[in-house]
Amino acid sequence: MTTRPLIVALDFPSSHEIKPFLEQFEGESLFVKVGMELFYKEGFHAISYLKKNGHKIFLDLKLHDIPNTVKSAMRNLASLDVDIVNVHAAGGKQMMVAALEGLDQGTIAGKKRPKCIAVTQLTSTSEQMLKSELLIDQPLDTVVRHYAKLASDSGLDGVVCSTWEVEQILAACGSGFLTVTPGIRMLNDNKDDQVRVATPEEARKRGSWGIVVGRPITKALNPLEAYHIVCEQWEGK
Ligand code: C5P
Repeated sequence: MTTRPLIVALDFPSSHEIKPFLEQFEGESLFVKVGMELFYKEGFHAISYLKKNGHKIFLDLKLHDIPNTVKSAMRNLASLDVDIVNVHAAGGKQMMVAALEGLDQGTIAGKKRPKCIAVTQLTSTSEQMLKSELLIDQPLDTVVRHYAKLASDSGLDGVVCSTWEVEQILAACGSGFLTVTPGIRMLNDNKDDQVRVATPEEARKRGSWGIVVGRPITKALNPLEAYHIVCEQWEGK
């Protein structure tokens, strides 16, 4: 697996937009993130197109269901030979263990099992929402740390979290636990709907394993140039 990947979020509605976007990166093997929007429209075709073109894939479908259903779904996703998949830690330990079993069963002989990471709390969830809607009285950072530990105890490879949570998650789960951080912006970038943003440099310094970058690259006037600028700061060149 790539060390410390820069993952480009392909938040496009269909393959029509993906092809011209990726053509600008001719010759570069990217690590891309495919989310629900694209996968629910294009499904396995989008994945095989990306793989054929040499890109690594984080398939961000955030599974959350009863253990048996998640296990069967993961068995199918593993057969796509993607690099990372994910679940909601809120599904509990039994569900996360089942996810890993499904992945082990579905992994093609001779291939590596996809890494499985957990969403702790969505970045759209505020502490106020935790209390009033989910009836969780603990502070948000305590909840995030607890869910990360639950994922680690279930055998998962890591979590999706904000840059600002990385240090406490690594302290709780060990330095080998993977932290994948979205909400990345260069200093002068528009924050869009992200709240707790960080620069690629900050993410590197705080120990993020990988960063997910969408609009700062996909909406840039020159996506290839934007990608290289983020890359340089992420790699500390
Ligand atoms: O465009 P932007 O860089 O904000 O995109 C970030 C990507 O990371 C989006 O695909 C978003 O869905 C995803 N993400 C996030 N926050 C999370 C989990 C995933 O922004 N907690």
